[in-house]
Amino acid sequence: MFVTIEGPEGSGKSSVTNEVTKLLEKEGYEVVLTREPGGTPIAEQIRNVILDKENTKMDPMTEALLYAASRRQHLVEKVWPLSKAGKIIISDRFLDSSLAYQGGARGLGIDKILALNQYATDGFYPELTLLFDIDPRIGLARIAANKGREVNRLDLEKIDFHDSVRQTFLDLAKRFPDRFVILDASKPFDEVVKDAYAAIKEKLKECK
Ligand code: TYD
Repeated sequence: MFVTIEGPEGSGKSSVTNEVTKLLEKEGYEVVLTREPGGTPIAEQIRNVILDKENTKMDPMTEALLYAASRRQHLVEKVWPLSKAGKIIISDRFLDSSLAYQGGARGLGIDKILALNQYATDGFYPELTLLFDIDPRIGLARIAANKGREVNRLDLEKIDFHDSVRQTFLDLAKRFPDRFVILDASKPFDEVVKDAYAAIKEKLKECK
C-alpha cells in the first residue's frame, strides 16, 4: 500500500508520521518511510537544486519539472520495487504537493501540473492521502519556533502563497474523495497521531 502525507508547512506531518510508523511496526507491518522531493540519491540531488535559497531566479515551470523529475526517479528506484515486495510505503509529500504548490499557489494550473505528473508517474496514484490541514499562520509560527528545522526557499514565500497552498489541498480533497482523508493538524500531537493511525488502519482493511 502506498500512503502519501500532505499539508502546508509546519503541519507536524513528519513527526506524526514517524510516530504512526512505530505503531504499525509494533504490530508487525513492514513500513518504509520516504520523502519528496528526494528519497533516493539522484532525487536528493535534484532536491538540493530546488530548495537552495540562492536559486531565486528559478522559473516556476522549471521548478515543476524538477519536482516531477525527482518524483519519477523516486518511483523507479524505490516506491515501485518496494510496492511489488508488499511493503507499506509512506511518503512525506508526493504528487498533491506539486498540484498545491506549483499548480495552485504558483498559478501554473492544476490540470497542467496533473498532466505533467501523469506523464512522469505513468498515472500512478497513492491508495491513501492524509491531508494535515492547518492554518499556515500556525504552521509557519511552529517552524519559526523550531530551531532544528531548516528554512527552505518555499518557506520564504508570502502568506498569500501559503493560504493558496492550503486552499488547493482542500479543493483536491474534494476532487479525489476516494483517496483523501483530512486531518485537523491543529489538534494536540497525540490526537493527530491517533487520527492518522486510524485512517491508515481503515484503508488497510479495505485493501485486504
Ligand atoms: P521540506 O523541507 O521537505 O518541507 P516540509 O517539511 O514542509 O515537507 O521541503 C519540501 C518543500 O517543497 C515544501 O516547501 C513543499 C515543496 N514541494 C513543492 O512545492 N512541490 C512538490 O511537488 C513537493 C514534493 C514539495
